[in-house]
Amino acid sequence: MLLNKIEDVRTEVEKYRKSGLKVGLVPTMGALHEGHLSLIKKAKETCDKVVVSVFVNPIQFGPSEDFDKYPRTLEADTELCNKEGVDIVFAPTPKEMYGEGNRLSNDTLTYVCPPFFYVNKLCGKTRTGHFDGVCTVVMKLFNIVQPDCAFFGQKDAQQVIIIKKMVNDLNIPIQIIQCPIVREESGLALSSRNKYLTEEGKKDALVLSEILNNIKLCYQKGITDVSALKETAYSFLTDKHELEYLELMDRDTLEEKTSADDNTIALIACRVQGVRLIDNVYLK
Ligand code: PAF
Repeated sequence: MLLNKIEDVRTEVEKYRKSGLKVGLVPTMGALHEGHLSLIKKAKETCDKVVVSVFVNPIQFGPSEDFDKYPRTLEADTELCNKEGVDIVFAPTPKEMYGEGNRLSNDTLTYVCPPFFYVNKLCGKTRTGHFDGVCTVVMKLFNIVQPDCAFFGQKDAQQVIIIKKMVNDLNIPIQIIQCPIVREESGLALSSRNKYLTEEGKKDALVLSEILNNIKLCYQKGITDVSALKETAYSFLTDKHELEYLELMDRDTLEEKTSADDNTIALIACRVQGVRLIDNVYLK
């Protein structure tokens, strides 16, 4: 069932809860692909009822980012959700979520702001305010749906770490379930932004997973020095790639590592054909 109104979602979910059913939420921005479907499948396995939200959240996009051109494919998304047996697709308008007015800033809206230590690095460094926007909308979705569990992909590793931190710090009674990255056969991590790439761009984009796999291989061969591991990336990069970051950090706390260990995650952001792509891998 496709619902656009907060009140309607609340009423439906309330019925589930009264019947003692376990409710799962899969928050998305739509343009659903196999990565999202893996979250939905996991939610179906874990919960009795599944809500998928489809909302391109304006407050998590910077002024020069792709909010306007972000793919919006609600009809196809709803069809996919129906096929997967999703109970509710919640697709609110920005007005439904944030009310009238277009000045969406922390002058006029209550924001949930994750700690500086977690946002002052990786994607947060160039995407100022992005994680404030993410946490704010996720908190709103949590309050609207009040699910037992919520499902997020490891692809957005910093995002899921920050959401777990928010849930822990604010005592939110929701279990966060993290699902593995889904990749094309080539190794390219699935992303709604892959739609912006040409076939050639997709080939050039393989550099992200190649760099990460090579770092993992080097670690498995015994190299632990982070500078040495990072150095291995340079032979993969050409003038088609604009590397934004390559970091090795603790996979739970995002502390920077000088020496890699089994709890290390390698994370990369790189532009290909002007499209900003991210990927990551656990070294073990
Ligand atoms: O990962 C996403 O698609 C978004 O950041 C999320 C979690 C749906 C919040 O808008």
